[in-house]
Amino acid sequence: MRFEVTPSRIGDATVTVPGDKSVSHRALMLGGIADGRTHISGFLAGEDCLATLDAMRQLGVEVETHSATQLTVHGAGLNGLRAPEHHLDLGNSGTAMRLMAGLLAGQPFATVLTGDESLNSRPMGRIITPLTRMGAAIESDCDGTPPLQISGGLRLAGIHYDLPMASAQVKSAVLLAGLYAEGTTSVTEPDITRDHTERMLTSMGVSVSNSGGRIGLEGGQRLKACAVDVPADLSSAAFVMLAALISENGDVLIEGVGINPTRTGVIDILRSMGGSIELENERTMGAEPVADIRVRASALQGGLVDPELVSLAIDEFPVLFVAAATASGNTEFSGIGELRVKESDRIAAMSAGLRALGVQVDESADGAVVHGGMLSGGVVESQGDHRIAMALAVGGLVAGDTVVVDDVAAVETSFPGFCECLRSIGGEISIAEQ
Ligand code: S3P
Repeated sequence: MRFEVTPSRIGDATVTVPGDKSVSHRALMLGGIADGRTHISGFLAGEDCLATLDAMRQLGVEVETHSATQLTVHGAGLNGLRAPEHHLDLGNSGTAMRLMAGLLAGQPFATVLTGDESLNSRPMGRIITPLTRMGAAIESDCDGTPPLQISGGLRLAGIHYDLPMASAQVKSAVLLAGLYAEGTTSVTEPDITRDHTERMLTSMGVSVSNSGGRIGLEGGQRLKACAVDVPADLSSAAFVMLAALISENGDVLIEGVGINPTRTGVIDILRSMGGSIELENERTMGAEPVADIRVRASALQGGLVDPELVSLAIDEFPVLFVAAATASGNTEFSGIGELRVKESDRIAAMSAGLRALGVQVDESADGAVVHGGMLSGGVVESQGDHRIAMALAVGGLVAGDTVVVDDVAAVETSFPGFCECLRSIGGEISIAEQ
């Protein structure tokens, strides 16, 4: 499948985007090992979270689906998971695989975790190292990629782990394994990363400490189920924000979006580029802060992007590259090496995509300089990566001519209804068979 996008007029509109991917994964996993029923509303029925749903069912957790976005997880209790009959196929989802590895490292049974071609080429050494140090036995392919064979049946002991990279997935894997370990498990991180795991554990009654950035918990604590209202995903809202910002006259309100401060780097960066972004009706939804986000067309300027904000905007760099391409002047990104091990090498994928639309991009090992100006029409490759596909499609709304984005099926992993959403604000986008 491919997108065909033609130059569009974005108008005044109010939209919603689907539920938060990170929160949806965690609601299923934590609900699955809690005591009692976890009612989830606003669940993201995208392929990534559906892979986690399927895996939890295979691990013996009963999940009732009342509708695509309303589920009830019947918690099996901390020690209630059972051996799955098959390998757990986690599709395209790094979050599912890394968090699941943490959850399964201390179980009494063995499991095998696998995924699609992209996931099976992503680095898992980053979780194997700490989990092995806790006493788990996990085998991967020789280059540290999945499938992962988790032996199970081993006793885990708490450790302190100083994360070598800013990764919420690694932090969460260690903390989840820590629930099954003897004693205290703690981590420190080089930069703050999303804290949905800590928040949800806390709202399920687990005592999670954070003293001076050292995040820890005692093993053996039981989780008490609670309702989880999933906010709309800021990472999906970011594509709509971009569409409004780079348009001529757009004024778009996106309702009920998660604004957890460990996720809002994209708002800070776009504001620093001159973007008009206002938070309205700030409130909380369970453990997470949310707001309606109003975005108005703005003349963006390039500049140096604060490297301190990278971990708080880690999934939004495809959006930011397109913002930079339409801005005046050059935009310099640094400290973004982690993007090379996402669903695709996102520095390379965005650089190639923007170049195909006439934009000059100078790439380095862990950064890029995007020369702002105009986008031309052209044909670009998504590299099978949902966020590359969506970012380049939004760029197409303001390009000089039609932009064709190839290989866009992966958009279903995180943003079902992306095209309809863009159309509802005036975007001219169609889906064609490849
Ligand atoms: C996620 C953490 C991030 C992010 C991913 C979701 C999570 O990955 O890129 O989309 O839900 O914990 P890293 O922890 O590898 O940075």
